[in-house]
Amino acid sequence: MTDAPKKLWGGRFSGTVDPLMDAFNASIHFDKRMYAADCMGSMAYAKALAKNKIISESERDQLLEGLATVMEEWETGKFVIKPGDEDIHTANERRLGELIGSVAGKLHTGRSRNDQVATDMRLWLRDECIKILAHVKELIAITVARAEKEIDVIMPGYTHLQRAQPIRWSHFLLSYAWLWQSDADRLEQLIDRFNVLPLGSGALAGHAFKIDRAFLAKELGFRDIIYNSLYAVSDRDFVAEFLFWSNLMMTHISRIAEDLIIYSSGEFGFVRLADAYSTGSSLMPQKKNPDSLELLRGKCGRVFGNMSGFMMTYKGIPSTYNKDLQEDKEPMFDAADTLSGSLQITAGVLSTMDISPNKMRASLSADMLATDLAEYLVRKGVPFRETHHISGAAVKMAEDRSCSLSDLSVNDLKSLHPSFDSDVSSVWNFETSIENRNAPGGTAKSSVLEQINLLKSWLANKKSNKSYKCITI
Ligand code: ARG
Repeated sequence: MTDAPKKLWGGRFSGTVDPLMDAFNASIHFDKRMYAADCMGSMAYAKALAKNKIISESERDQLLEGLATVMEEWETGKFVIKPGDEDIHTANERRLGELIGSVAGKLHTGRSRNDQVATDMRLWLRDECIKILAHVKELIAITVARAEKEIDVIMPGYTHLQRAQPIRWSHFLLSYAWLWQSDADRLEQLIDRFNVLPLGSGALAGHAFKIDRAFLAKELGFRDIIYNSLYAVSDRDFVAEFLFWSNLMMTHISRIAEDLIIYSSGEFGFVRLADAYSTGSSLMPQKKNPDSLELLRGKCGRVFGNMSGFMMTYKGIPSTYNKDLQEDKEPMFDAADTLSGSLQITAGVLSTMDISPNKMRASLSADMLATDLAEYLVRKGVPFRETHHISGAAVKMAEDRSCSLSDLSVNDLKSLHPSFDSDVSSVWNFETSIENRNAPGGTAKSSVLEQINLLKSWLANKKSNKSYKCITI
């Protein structure tokens, strides 16, 4: 192996490695995207080494300067990956050596790629989650703004995809805003949980040079250190949790996508997607397809695959670091990319689509007020269980006569129960039905406005929340 590049771990090896194995073993082609986290981690580590006099101050400064150059080379696209650069850690260390000479070899004192990679991943994911969180908040803000503007639009509400009761369009929109608000909360809790430092754990057993781990944590913006080195190098629960979070978030996106696909069909015609988010058919000139929504629905499957694939990898790993763990990065990267893209596309679709209030209203029919008819009798003192049957009998009477429920005369209704009176005509009003549902959480205007206000103040508080800031960008 005289001409081959020297491996970081090459000391005890004399044979050559199968080139196929080299390629199989390498992760540089995907983990290079953690270059900034890797450089930041190394900079903090150089400072900690000097703080404990493991290296001199001038050595620290050489390391810091060299690492800044490495970082800049990545940022400007000048970094050249060479054969033997197995992963981002080896690539950066090799380049640092070329730039500053043998002092580069001191940087890895007491450090292993095991605690290094675990640290890089947490740093990378933290920044990514902060960006994703901003996209979630933007999506909520767009939805709330639309709900406020279109508060007077009414539509059928569905259960079992059957028309059930009239609701405000805004109430429907906000049902998703609330799901996303819980998603945002969950993501923040998740960031906080994994924002702890593995670095300073060595390969598995701990650090032999009394590195100041609290200092390292502070430098890198971690809220604490991880107190068990075995756990520190092998824990990937944060990847599993992020993948589950991504999966749940995509499930919510997929569900609104499905609603809007149905609502945009010719039969419904409630919404019309902007051209920017639709495509045509190569054969049928009249087609306008909701491809954006279908892709959003489809990508949920992809993210589920990332999660389930990773869980399979994770489940059989004995203590502590095992190379299986290199398989943690691609699903994490792919989920983050998919989420970031999907959230922005969802926001784009929601902010640009047109709605047809006329079509929505035209889909309302008097039978959707059958519950209101029962409630009319409740207000006259009849027990609800009885009124439910009486209203059901009225629905049947209208069906038998092929007329609308509201076409039944007062006498027809009186034949079903004596408490019906001429004021029953007030039941046949969709707005009244909606306004009756004015307990908090209902579809009445006051309740919907309350939701809007609550979400707006949540957004205002969240926007000023500066507890996390990206360190690698
Ligand atoms: N590229 C490796 C990974 O992603 C880095 C850690 C390698 N550690 C080791 N002991 N081989 O997992």
